[in-house]
Amino acid sequence: MEYQNTQTTAHTNIAFIKYWGKKDAQLNLPCTDSLSLTLDGYFTTTTSKFISDNEDQIWLNGQRAPVGFFKRTQKFLDLCRQLNHCKQKIQIITTNHVPTAAGLASSASGFAALAGSLNKLFQMHLSRAQLSCLARRGSGSAARSIYGGWVWWQQGSSDQTSLAVPIDEHPQLPICLLSVVFNDQPKKISSTQGMERARTTSPFYSCWPHIVANDLSAMKKAIATADLQQIGQIAENNCLAMHALNWSARPAFSYFTDATWKLINLLQQWRQELQLVAYATVDAGPNVKIITQKNQVQQIQARVQHSFPEAQTTILYPGSGIQ
Ligand code: DP6
Repeated sequence: MEYQNTQTTAHTNIAFIKYWGKKDAQLNLPCTDSLSLTLDGYFTTTTSKFISDNEDQIWLNGQRAPVGFFKRTQKFLDLCRQLNHCKQKIQIITTNHVPTAAGLASSASGFAALAGSLNKLFQMHLSRAQLSCLARRGSGSAARSIYGGWVWWQQGSSDQTSLAVPIDEHPQLPICLLSVVFNDQPKKISSTQGMERARTTSPFYSCWPHIVANDLSAMKKAIATADLQQIGQIAENNCLAMHALNWSARPAFSYFTDATWKLINLLQQWRQELQLVAYATVDAGPNVKIITQKNQVQQIQARVQHSFPEAQTTILYPGSGIQ
Protein backbone atom coordinates (compact mmCIF):
# COMPACT_ATOMS: atom_id res chain seq x y z
CA MET A 1 0.00 0.00 0.00
CA GLU A 2 1.37 3.40 -0.99
CA TYR A 3 1.54 6.23 1.54
CA GLN A 4 -0.29 8.48 -0.85
CA ASN A 5 -3.41 6.34 -0.64
CA THR A 6 -3.75 6.67 3.10
CA GLN A 7 -3.11 10.40 3.36
CA THR A 8 -5.89 12.17 5.24
CA THR A 9 -6.28 15.78 6.34
CA ALA A 10 -8.61 16.96 9.12
CA HIS A 11 -9.21 20.44 10.52
CA THR A 12 -9.60 21.35 14.15
CA ASN A 13 -12.88 22.58 15.63
CA ILE A 14 -13.99 24.91 18.41
CA ALA A 15 -16.96 23.98 20.59
CA PHE A 16 -19.66 26.66 20.87
CA ILE A 17 -21.57 24.30 23.18
CA LYS A 18 -18.95 22.45 25.20
CA TYR A 19 -18.34 18.77 25.81
CA TRP A 20 -17.25 18.50 29.46
CA GLY A 21 -17.70 15.09 31.08
CA LYS A 22 -17.95 11.43 30.06
CA LYS A 23 -20.56 8.90 31.02
CA ASP A 24 -18.28 6.14 29.68
CA ALA A 25 -14.55 6.86 29.70
CA GLN A 26 -13.67 3.63 27.91
CA LEU A 27 -15.87 4.40 24.89
CA ASN A 28 -15.62 8.20 25.23
CA LEU A 29 -19.39 8.58 25.51
CA PRO A 30 -20.11 12.14 26.66
CA CYS A 31 -22.64 13.16 29.32
CA THR A 32 -24.18 15.71 26.92
CA ASP A 33 -24.42 16.69 23.26
CA SER A 34 -22.10 19.42 22.00
CA LEU A 35 -21.85 21.71 18.98
CA SER A 36 -18.83 23.10 17.18
CA LEU A 37 -17.52 25.04 14.20
CA THR A 38 -14.76 23.41 12.16
CA LEU A 39 -11.99 25.91 11.37
CA ASP A 40 -9.84 26.38 8.32
CA GLY A 41 -6.58 27.64 9.78
CA TYR A 42 -5.24 24.63 11.55
CA PHE A 43 -5.12 21.05 10.32
CA THR A 44 -3.38 17.72 10.71
CA THR A 45 -2.23 15.52 7.82
CA THR A 46 -1.56 11.85 8.51
CA THR A 47 -0.38 8.86 6.49
CA SER A 48 -0.06 5.25 7.61
CA LYS A 49 1.44 2.01 6.33
CA PHE A 50 2.08 -1.52 7.55
CA ILE A 51 5.69 -2.29 8.48
CA SER A 52 7.54 -5.50 9.28
CA ASP A 53 9.25 -4.06 12.42
CA ASN A 54 8.58 -5.35 15.95
CA GLU A 55 7.30 -1.95 17.14
CA ASP A 56 4.95 0.68 15.81
CA GLN A 57 6.73 3.74 14.45
CA ILE A 58 5.11 7.09 15.09
CA TRP A 59 6.46 10.33 13.65
CA LEU A 60 5.16 13.75 14.69
CA ASN A 61 6.27 16.84 12.75
CA GLY A 62 9.32 15.07 11.34
CA GLN A 63 10.52 13.58 14.64
CA ARG A 64 9.88 10.47 16.70
CA ALA A 65 6.74 11.18 18.72
CA PRO A 66 7.17 11.94 22.45
CA VAL A 67 6.13 9.15 24.86
CA GLY A 68 2.70 10.52 25.77
CA PHE A 69 1.72 11.08 22.15
CA PHE A 70 3.13 7.66 21.18
CA LYS A 71 1.12 5.82 23.83
CA ARG A 72 -2.16 7.55 23.06
CA THR A 73 -1.72 6.93 19.32
CA GLN A 74 -0.68 3.32 19.87
CA LYS A 75 -3.80 2.68 21.94
CA PHE A 76 -5.83 3.81 18.95
CA LEU A 77 -3.78 1.59 16.60
CA ASP A 78 -4.48 -1.35 18.94
CA LEU A 79 -8.20 -0.62 18.72
CA CYS A 80 -8.10 -0.64 14.90
CA ARG A 81 -5.96 -3.81 14.83
CA GLN A 82 -8.45 -5.48 17.13
CA LEU A 83 -11.41 -4.41 14.98
CA ASN A 84 -9.66 -5.79 11.91
CA HIS A 85 -8.19 -8.95 13.49
CA CYS A 86 -4.71 -7.84 12.56
CA LYS A 87 -1.41 -7.94 14.44
CA GLN A 88 0.86 -6.10 12.06
CA LYS A 89 2.86 -3.09 13.21
CA ILE A 90 2.14 0.28 11.66
CA GLN A 91 4.08 3.40 10.75
CA ILE A 92 2.29 6.70 11.26
CA ILE A 93 3.56 9.98 9.89
CA THR A 94 1.62 12.95 11.14
CA THR A 95 2.13 16.68 10.68
CA ASN A 96 0.32 19.46 12.50
CA HIS A 97 -0.05 22.60 10.41
CA VAL A 98 -0.48 25.30 13.02
CA PRO A 99 -0.46 29.07 12.66
CA THR A 100 2.23 30.34 15.03
CA ALA A 101 1.07 29.44 18.53
CA ALA A 102 -2.58 29.13 17.59
CA GLY A 103 -3.22 27.49 20.95
CA LEU A 104 -5.79 25.20 19.37
CA ALA A 105 -6.42 21.66 20.51
CA SER A 106 -4.60 19.23 18.25
CA SER A 107 -6.33 16.09 19.48
CA ALA A 108 -9.50 16.83 17.47
CA SER A 109 -7.79 17.21 14.08
CA GLY A 110 -5.19 14.59 15.08
CA PHE A 111 -7.54 11.71 15.80
CA ALA A 112 -9.91 12.61 12.96
CA ALA A 113 -7.00 12.47 10.49
CA LEU A 114 -5.68 9.26 12.07
CA ALA A 115 -9.09 7.57 11.90
CA GLY A 116 -9.45 8.63 8.25
CA SER A 117 -6.00 7.32 7.34
CA LEU A 118 -6.46 3.96 9.13
CA ASN A 119 -9.85 3.58 7.46
CA LYS A 120 -7.97 3.56 4.16
CA LEU A 121 -5.06 1.43 5.41
CA PHE A 122 -7.33 -1.33 6.73
CA GLN A 123 -9.77 -0.83 3.85
CA MET A 124 -12.61 -0.58 6.35
CA HIS A 125 -14.84 1.41 3.95
CA LEU A 126 -16.43 3.28 6.86
CA SER A 127 -19.07 5.92 6.19
CA ARG A 128 -18.48 9.40 7.63
CA ALA A 129 -20.90 8.55 10.45
CA GLN A 130 -18.90 5.44 11.32
CA LEU A 131 -15.65 7.41 11.02
CA SER A 132 -17.03 9.91 13.52
CA CYS A 133 -17.60 7.06 16.00
CA LEU A 134 -14.10 5.72 15.42
CA ALA A 135 -12.43 9.14 15.79
CA ARG A 136 -14.40 9.66 19.02
CA ARG A 137 -12.59 6.69 20.57
CA GLY A 138 -9.28 8.59 20.17
CA SER A 139 -10.55 11.91 21.53
CA GLY A 140 -14.15 13.01 22.03
CA SER A 141 -13.85 16.30 20.17
CA ALA A 142 -12.35 14.45 17.14
CA ALA A 143 -15.82 13.02 16.41
CA ARG A 144 -16.82 16.53 15.25
CA SER A 145 -13.77 17.18 13.00
CA ILE A 146 -15.01 14.63 10.43
CA TYR A 147 -17.38 17.31 9.11
CA GLY A 148 -16.94 20.92 8.06
CA GLY A 149 -18.84 23.99 9.29
CA TRP A 150 -21.42 23.61 12.07
CA VAL A 151 -21.37 20.14 13.63
CA TRP A 152 -23.56 18.59 16.30
CA TRP A 153 -22.19 15.66 18.33
CA GLN A 154 -25.12 13.62 19.59
CA GLN A 155 -24.15 11.97 22.87
CA GLY A 156 -25.90 8.67 22.07
CA SER A 157 -25.93 5.72 24.43
CA SER A 158 -23.53 3.24 22.80
CA ASP A 159 -20.43 3.01 20.66
CA GLN A 160 -22.56 3.06 17.49
CA THR A 161 -24.94 5.86 18.46
CA SER A 162 -22.54 8.49 19.83
CA LEU A 163 -21.56 10.40 16.71
CA ALA A 164 -21.42 13.79 15.07
CA VAL A 165 -23.79 14.98 12.35
CA PRO A 166 -23.31 18.03 10.13
CA ILE A 167 -25.78 20.89 10.61
CA ASP A 168 -24.43 23.18 7.90
CA GLU A 169 -21.14 22.31 6.23
CA HIS A 170 -20.84 25.64 4.40
CA PRO A 171 -22.06 28.42 6.69
CA GLN A 172 -22.95 31.56 4.77
CA LEU A 173 -22.95 33.92 7.73
CA PRO A 174 -19.87 36.15 7.97
CA ILE A 175 -18.56 34.55 11.17
CA CYS A 176 -14.90 34.35 12.05
CA LEU A 177 -12.80 33.77 15.14
CA LEU A 178 -9.80 35.59 16.50
CA SER A 179 -7.59 33.23 18.44
CA VAL A 180 -5.69 35.06 21.19
CA VAL A 181 -2.79 33.13 22.68
CA PHE A 182 -1.30 34.39 25.92
CA ASN A 183 0.55 31.20 26.67
CA ASP A 184 1.32 28.21 24.48
CA GLN A 185 2.73 25.97 27.21
CA PRO A 186 1.03 22.57 27.58
CA LYS A 187 -1.77 22.71 30.16
CA LYS A 188 -1.23 21.30 33.65
CA ILE A 189 -4.60 19.58 33.85
CA SER A 190 -5.56 17.85 30.60
CA SER A 191 -9.14 18.07 29.28
CA THR A 192 -9.61 14.39 30.10
CA GLN A 193 -8.56 14.93 33.74
CA GLY A 194 -10.33 18.27 34.16
CA MET A 195 -13.71 17.09 32.92
CA GLU A 196 -13.55 13.97 35.07
CA ARG A 197 -12.80 15.96 38.21
CA ALA A 198 -15.64 18.39 37.43
CA ARG A 199 -18.07 15.54 36.74
CA THR A 200 -17.25 13.61 39.89
CA THR A 201 -16.84 16.44 42.41
CA SER A 202 -18.65 19.64 41.39
CA PRO A 203 -21.96 19.95 43.27
CA PHE A 204 -23.23 21.87 40.22
CA TYR A 205 -22.51 19.10 37.73
CA SER A 206 -26.08 17.81 37.88
CA CYS A 207 -27.18 21.17 36.36
CA TRP A 208 -24.81 20.85 33.41
CA PRO A 209 -26.93 18.54 31.20
CA HIS A 210 -29.89 20.94 31.58
CA ILE A 211 -27.74 23.96 30.74
CA VAL A 212 -26.41 22.21 27.64
CA ALA A 213 -29.87 21.12 26.49
CA ASN A 214 -31.19 24.70 26.73
CA ASP A 215 -28.12 26.30 25.17
CA LEU A 216 -28.07 23.76 22.37
CA SER A 217 -31.65 24.35 21.31
CA ALA A 218 -31.17 28.14 21.46
CA MET A 219 -27.92 27.82 19.51
CA LYS A 220 -29.55 25.79 16.74
CA LYS A 221 -32.21 28.49 16.34
CA ALA A 222 -29.56 31.21 16.28
CA ILE A 223 -27.63 29.30 13.58
CA ALA A 224 -30.79 28.76 11.53
CA THR A 225 -31.58 32.48 11.63
CA ALA A 226 -27.90 33.46 11.15
CA ASP A 227 -28.04 35.59 14.30
CA LEU A 228 -24.38 36.15 15.01
CA GLN A 229 -24.88 38.10 18.23
CA GLN A 230 -27.06 35.36 19.68
CA ILE A 231 -24.58 32.70 18.60
CA GLY A 232 -21.79 34.59 20.36
CA GLN A 233 -23.77 35.29 23.51
CA ILE A 234 -24.94 31.69 23.92
CA ALA A 235 -21.43 30.36 23.29
CA GLU A 236 -19.93 32.72 25.89
CA ASN A 237 -22.58 31.82 28.48
CA ASN A 238 -22.07 28.13 27.87
CA CYS A 239 -18.29 28.44 28.13
CA LEU A 240 -18.49 30.32 31.44
CA ALA A 241 -20.91 27.71 32.81
CA MET A 242 -18.41 24.99 31.86
CA HIS A 243 -15.59 26.79 33.67
CA ALA A 244 -17.84 27.34 36.70
CA LEU A 245 -17.88 23.56 37.06
CA ASN A 246 -14.11 23.67 37.46
CA TRP A 247 -14.21 26.51 39.98
CA SER A 248 -16.71 24.51 42.01
CA ALA A 249 -14.86 21.17 41.71
CA ARG A 250 -13.12 19.75 44.78
CA PRO A 251 -10.28 20.50 44.77
CA ALA A 252 -11.21 23.53 42.67
CA PHE A 253 -9.14 24.41 39.63
CA SER A 254 -9.14 26.98 36.87
CA TYR A 255 -7.69 27.30 33.36
CA PHE A 256 -8.16 31.07 33.44
CA THR A 257 -5.36 33.53 34.13
CA ASP A 258 -5.58 37.28 34.82
CA ALA A 259 -5.23 37.90 31.08
CA THR A 260 -8.20 35.62 30.31
CA TRP A 261 -10.43 37.63 32.66
CA LYS A 262 -9.12 40.97 31.49
CA LEU A 263 -9.94 40.15 27.87
CA ILE A 264 -13.42 38.81 28.70
CA ASN A 265 -14.16 42.06 30.54
CA LEU A 266 -12.80 44.14 27.68
CA LEU A 267 -15.04 42.31 25.19
CA GLN A 268 -18.06 43.13 27.32
CA GLN A 269 -17.01 46.77 27.37
CA TRP A 270 -16.48 46.85 23.58
CA ARG A 271 -19.92 45.34 23.05
CA GLN A 272 -21.57 47.96 25.22
CA GLU A 273 -19.59 51.04 24.29
CA LEU A 274 -18.62 50.36 20.69
CA GLN A 275 -21.43 48.02 19.59
CA LEU A 276 -18.86 45.49 18.40
CA VAL A 277 -19.81 41.84 17.97
CA ALA A 278 -17.19 40.14 20.16
CA TYR A 279 -17.79 37.20 22.47
CA ALA A 280 -15.35 34.87 24.20
CA THR A 281 -15.01 31.13 24.28
CA VAL A 282 -12.27 29.37 26.24
CA ASP A 283 -11.27 25.69 26.35
CA ALA A 284 -8.91 23.82 28.67
CA GLY A 285 -6.32 26.60 28.82
CA PRO A 286 -5.97 30.35 29.39
CA ASN A 287 -6.29 31.37 25.72
CA VAL A 288 -9.40 33.03 24.32
CA LYS A 289 -11.13 32.61 20.97
CA ILE A 290 -13.14 35.72 20.12
CA ILE A 291 -16.31 35.07 18.13
CA THR A 292 -16.86 37.97 15.77
CA GLN A 293 -17.75 38.93 12.21
CA LYS A 294 -15.52 39.42 9.20
CA ASN A 295 -15.89 43.19 8.88
CA GLN A 296 -14.97 43.80 12.53
CA VAL A 297 -12.20 41.29 13.10
CA GLN A 298 -9.34 43.60 12.10
CA GLN A 299 -10.49 46.34 14.44
CA ILE A 300 -10.81 43.81 17.26
CA GLN A 301 -7.41 42.35 16.48
CA ALA A 302 -5.84 45.83 16.67
CA ARG A 303 -7.55 46.50 20.02
CA VAL A 304 -6.42 43.15 21.43
CA GLN A 305 -2.83 43.74 20.31
CA HIS A 306 -2.92 47.17 21.91
CA SER A 307 -4.07 45.77 25.27
CA PHE A 308 -1.91 42.62 25.10
CA PRO A 309 1.25 43.45 23.10
CA GLU A 310 2.74 40.03 23.91
CA ALA A 311 -0.27 37.98 22.78
CA GLN A 312 -0.27 36.18 19.45
CA THR A 313 -3.44 36.52 17.41
CA THR A 314 -4.70 34.51 14.44
CA ILE A 315 -7.87 35.02 12.37
CA LEU A 316 -9.75 31.78 11.61
CA TYR A 317 -12.67 31.10 9.25
CA PRO A 318 -15.04 28.14 8.92
CA GLY A 319 -13.28 25.09 7.49
CA SER A 320 -14.10 21.83 5.74
CA GLY A 321 -14.41 18.19 6.81
CA ILE A 322 -11.83 15.44 6.34
CA GLN A 323 -10.24 14.95 2.94
C1 DP6 B 1 -12.97 22.06 26.51
O1 DP6 B 1 -11.92 16.05 23.26
O2 DP6 B 1 -9.79 16.94 24.30
O3 DP6 B 1 -12.28 21.53 24.29
O4 DP6 B 1 -12.23 13.13 24.86
O5 DP6 B 1 -10.70 13.25 26.81
O6 DP6 B 1 -9.79 13.57 24.49
P1 DP6 B 1 -10.98 13.74 25.42
O7 DP6 B 1 -11.22 15.31 25.57
P2 DP6 B 1 -11.18 16.46 24.48
O8 DP6 B 1 -12.02 17.57 25.27
C2 DP6 B 1 -12.39 18.80 24.67
C3 DP6 B 1 -12.88 19.71 25.75
C4 DP6 B 1 -13.17 21.13 25.30
C5 DP6 B 1 -14.62 21.29 24.86
C6 DP6 B 1 -14.98 20.73 23.51
O9 DP6 B 1 -14.15 20.68 22.59
O10 DP6 B 1 -16.17 20.37 23.36
